[in-house]
Amino acid sequence: MCGIVGYIGSKKAVPVLINGLHCLEYRGYDSAGIAVLENKNIVVMKDKGRVANLDNISGINDLSSSIGIAHTRWATHGKPSQENSHPHMDNSNQFAIVHNGIIENYNELREFLSNNGYHFLSQTDTEVIPNLIHYHYTKGVSGKDTFLAAVKAAVDDLKGSYAIEVISNLFPDRVIVVRKDSPLVLGKGKEENYIASDIPAILSYTKDFYLLDDNEYAIISKDHIQFFDSNLVEHSKEVTTIEWDATAAEKNGYEHFMLKEIHEQPNAIRETINNRLQLGEKCTFEGLTITKEYLQSLNKICIVACGTAMHAGLVAKNIIEKLCRIPVEVDIASEFRYRDPIIDEKTLCIYISQSGETADTLAALKLSKSKGCKTLAISNVIGSSITREADFTVYTYAGPEIAVASTKAYTAQVSLLAVLAIHFAEILGSYAQDKLEELKADISRLPTKLETVLGLEKSIAEIAQKIYTEHDMYFLGRGTDYYVAMEGSLKVKELSYIHSEAYASGELKHGTIALIENGITVIGILTNPDLAPKSISNIQEVVSRGAKTFVVTNQELTNVSFDFVIRIPETNSLISPILSVVPFQLLAYYISTAKGLDVDKPRNLAKSVTVE
Ligand code: G6P
Repeated sequence: MCGIVGYIGSKKAVPVLINGLHCLEYRGYDSAGIAVLENKNIVVMKDKGRVANLDNISGINDLSSSIGIAHTRWATHGKPSQENSHPHMDNSNQFAIVHNGIIENYNELREFLSNNGYHFLSQTDTEVIPNLIHYHYTKGVSGKDTFLAAVKAAVDDLKGSYAIEVISNLFPDRVIVVRKDSPLVLGKGKEENYIASDIPAILSYTKDFYLLDDNEYAIISKDHIQFFDSNLVEHSKEVTTIEWDATAAEKNGYEHFMLKEIHEQPNAIRETINNRLQLGEKCTFEGLTITKEYLQSLNKICIVACGTAMHAGLVAKNIIEKLCRIPVEVDIASEFRYRDPIIDEKTLCIYISQSGETADTLAALKLSKSKGCKTLAISNVIGSSITREADFTVYTYAGPEIAVASTKAYTAQVSLLAVLAIHFAEILGSYAQDKLEELKADISRLPTKLETVLGLEKSIAEIAQKIYTEHDMYFLGRGTDYYVAMEGSLKVKELSYIHSEAYASGELKHGTIALIENGITVIGILTNPDLAPKSISNIQEVVSRGAKTFVVTNQELTNVSFDFVIRIPETNSLISPILSVVPFQLLAYYISTAKGLDVDKPRNLAKSVTVE
């Protein structure tokens, strides 16, 4: 969704800002813009469409300013258009801002400002903010820094979520930022400083970051950064050094980020499980202090997440229940937070989020804390919002995931959750240790087996060529295979815009079979030897009704014939999704490229969904 970049230093700001916006393109957006201070005036250049369009705006490359703010907008209030794009200025052109988030009381604030002589050029909720800053500034604010005091007075009027950057021609040596429920990081350079909503935007300039907290303000100047709490009391802050390599956020010769990330999965899993799982030893998680008494006191575990992360949670449910015998509920975060869940101090709530910024997941986490639950975050982004709210955090080490459709984050999450389930089982003594050792050995062999699955890429690309013109697809699976069906179906939908649905194989005949007719594509997943015969019968039912079938399996199939079969290596069926999902990631990728679609940024989707 919306992205923010900012710069102050001695370089020309415009190239830094535009480069940063390019790095944030993966988040999904529909317009882009910059504002810089040039010869004591604020110059705003913005338009709907791609960041690349900014280069065509006359005079943009002549701007020599070394202070500026920039934004990619994902429309919420008002359609994508030049006037609705950020930055927005106040009526006097003295304050320019960019904003991520939603101002819930903007109608009321607009009316208040209109009654005080202000007018509006856009339909956005954001435009009230620079005018409120101007209103408070001209009314008179007290404090050591009147710019900061005016921003705070305006922010005090806001209800909703925000990450805000402000510049003013009255104060040409600084940028002011503040956040609440929307991420913002500050990058520390030498005689220059950077601002971004997301680390990859400025990773090529610095690895030293300050992670801004909710309701925290900062004044950023060329040589230093000052931090203030919500009452504007100054405090100091620790630098966090990010280990990601800047090239990790580049394509490295692959045509798309998605293909690169699919191929990075063996390594993402190695990095995630290394140091936590050693054969013949108990699993360990640094910083996670969970006792046997606590686990024994639990009456359930709730796993809460959105999208692909929720699908990882479903796989984890089966593993945790099997190894630990603790009931596990899996919820979609946007549903969980509004269903008055029955949770208390006897519930452990696990939140899974690649970005750590998904608004619904974050809100659900806050809800469960307020009900007395312990919360455990699983995220790929160090210092992200959910990791800072949760009681415990364990990270996946998948490296930056740029393509909107999640791939390596999913397999890293499932691997981590499998090791976590073993860790809990070892604490509880709830599962035979020799069986746990077998499962550990299976997990440690996954990266190599995954490389074997990736070796099937060409065959999968050929299947994609044969089915990419389809309008409907149905995915079938039983047990854990059903959860892979859900994830495979989501990948196809997201990337190829083909209507696709996932069904538990046994459920097909309770309705959906009515839709099966000649030529419809049905995709089956068969990785559990105990359940495969039943699923094969279900697939036979659609074959006899004329369906075209594609099966991903690790079983020897005899006396049955399907149109396409992809044979993957065998593994323990609890963790088989880590292997069986990959053919569908590749299938969705190759269907999308065959259709000439935007693989890394599918229409209407955003990588990080920071609004409800
Ligand atoms: C968006 C992305 C999905 C992702 C979901 C949850 O919808 O497009 O790929 O699975 O958000 O994101 P999170 O960062 O919380 O895992």
